Amino acid sequence: MTFTLHHKAVTTSTNLDAREGAPGDVFTADEQTAGRGRLDHRWLSPPGKNLIMSAVFDVKGFDSERISTFPLIVGLAVREAIMYFVPPNPPAVLLKWPNDVLADGRKIAGILCERTGDRVIAGIGVNVNQTEFDKEIAARATSLALLRGEDGVRVESVRYAVLSALSAHYETWRLHGFAALHSDYAAVDALRGHTITVRQTDDDAFPIHGLCDGVALDGTLIVAGKPIFAGEAHILTSGDINTYA
Ligand code: BTN
Repeated sequence: MTFTLHHKAVTTSTNLDAREGAPGDVFTADEQTAGRGRLDHRWLSPPGKNLIMSAVFDVKGFDSERISTFPLIVGLAVREAIMYFVPPNPPAVLLKWPNDVLADGRKIAGILCERTGDRVIAGIGVNVNQTEFDKEIAARATSLALLRGEDGVRVESVRYAVLSALSAHYETWRLHGFAALHSDYAAVDALRGHTITVRQTDDDAFPIHGLCDGVALDGTLIVAGKPIFAGEAHILTSGDINTYA
């Protein structure tokens, strides 16, 4: 797959810019004024420090079950790209369903996939050279610079690695579906085998709670034997378990 880059210094959200794009178009920016995350969260990224990009993919002819697995393969691709830049003796770099990339349990990349007709926009934010985070997320976030102990990874290099991995995984997914990448996902699944809570919204009064059996072939997360289609998962620590006792 070949990609065409469109860059702006400042934009509202590259996912919004990508709505005007065609398959293969990639929208990047140094800064977003209204960066968006999953489940109506905001995505904040200091100007020029991180990778902010949205790539447009063709999903014409695929049923909605196949398309709902696309965000998972984007996560796999972004994780794979990040692995090129982590230091020797790498931290565990894993995926938290559907597609948060965690390094040593802290979020290093987030992905927001949005469908418009025959296209899916893969919006990707990777923390590259950011070393300070807002108080509310500081304990849960990291970046390549923090992992490497230096500020020196070029955002363009990370973008190149992400697009290369995305191109390869999209091709596999297009030809063979998520089944062909399912074992790759299982191998880097942060949730499988853990007791977790999944909230559909931030103030979900009835979060789902139970042992996670990983991700099924249709992309759903299996918790307490039942499929979950959307939500934000949280691994319970022993401190959390007291809360539920
Ligand atoms: C999440 O973890 O909630 C997803 C975050 C996705 C952020 C990226 S940055 C590029 C693209 N533009 C946006 O407004 N969001 C995505």
